[in-house]
Amino acid sequence: MSLEIPWVERYRPRTFSDIVSQSIAINNLKKFVKSTNIPHLIFTGPAGTGKTSTALIIARKFLKDEQLDTNLLELNASDTVRIDFVRNVLKNFVNQSLIKDGSLKFVILDEADNIPGQVQQALRRIIEKTSNNIKFILLCNYINRIIDPIISRCAVFRFVSLPKEMIIERLKYIADKEKLKIPSDRSEEFYNQIFFISGGDLRKAINTLQMAVALDLLENLDINEILKISGFLDEETLEKLITALESKDIIKSGEIIESIEILDSRNFIRQISEIFPSLNLTSENIVNLRAFIGEIDYRISKGADEQIQISALLAMIIENI
Ligand SMILES: Nc1ncnc2c1ncn2[C@@H]1O[C@H](COP(=O)(O)OP(=O)(O)OP(=O)(O)O)[C@@H](O)[C@H]1O
Ligand SMILES: [Mg+2]
Repeated sequence: MSLEIPWVERYRPRTFSDIVSQSIAINNLKKFVKSTNIPHLIFTGPAGTGKTSTALIIARKFLKDEQLDTNLLELNASDTVRIDFVRNVLKNFVNQSLIKDGSLKFVILDEADNIPGQVQQALRRIIEKTSNNIKFILLCNYINRIIDPIISRCAVFRFVSLPKEMIIERLKYIADKEKLKIPSDRSEEFYNQIFFISGGDLRKAINTLQMAVALDLLENLDINEILKISGFLDEETLEKLITALESKDIIKSGEIIESIEILDSRNFIRQISEIFPSLNLTSENIVNLRAFIGEIDYRISKGADEQIQISALLAMIIENI
């Protein structure tokens, strides 16, 4: 069992066939890769679905090992938010390629949706002027934050959330390789909870698995501890909260929330909305609550006080029960 290398790196897909799911994107990319004239690319989709891995696979298809240092430029958002960086480093890389041998070069721009509009304009001009041997691969979670003139110069591939079975299958594959000992009578529960924690993000799933091993939580399988350190309510606390909500006890439910050491509001919202079907709610009430959840999720993303928003949610649930 090796803990030194992050498993997300150790088990990063190396070939197209290692990429699970994403068959539409991968099948089409395979066609592009066969021709020499590939377009610029945008990969868009949720976190941990294989975008970065696929971009690296493509670069490696075209570049020999020794070229990976010279012909591949990987930038992330913190580099690219600075317009001077884009103007200098990126332009340099692009210009150098003009005078050299004309071999293929790749620029991978991670988190491209976080690049400010003005910098995107500068980037667009660079993409426009760049010669045919430079290929841009932009990675993003939200394509609507990328300006149209860039989108229209790229082939867009959508990566989708990985289905539960595929995430669990990949976790089992890693568990097998790492010779993990997961008590067999509870392994299904364990994988289900890791999937729940991951929210469909395979990176998070793999990291959670590795963390559980590092903290020695596997052999006696402490799922509650895994939930807690991942910023979720443990099962017992969740049960107590459900009881308090069902008896419309706003004081008690508030106390339960306050007693939680690490409360991650986004996780909490996800966890609580999963239990709606088991609460005594009409479908109309569920619709109301889901609409409200959309609202507070937005407020939290805009910096509203998390405790207040969660209290508001609890009050809303009690009102609808
Ligand atoms: N489709 C997939 N097939 C196999 N492994 C995957 C897949 N998606 C993610 N992984 C695993 O998760 C890790 C992270 O994947 P990757 O960096 O490619 O995700 P990403 O889509 O770029 O995410 P982000 O948007 O957060 O950057 C990889 O190292 C790999 O182990
Ligand atoms: Mg990525």
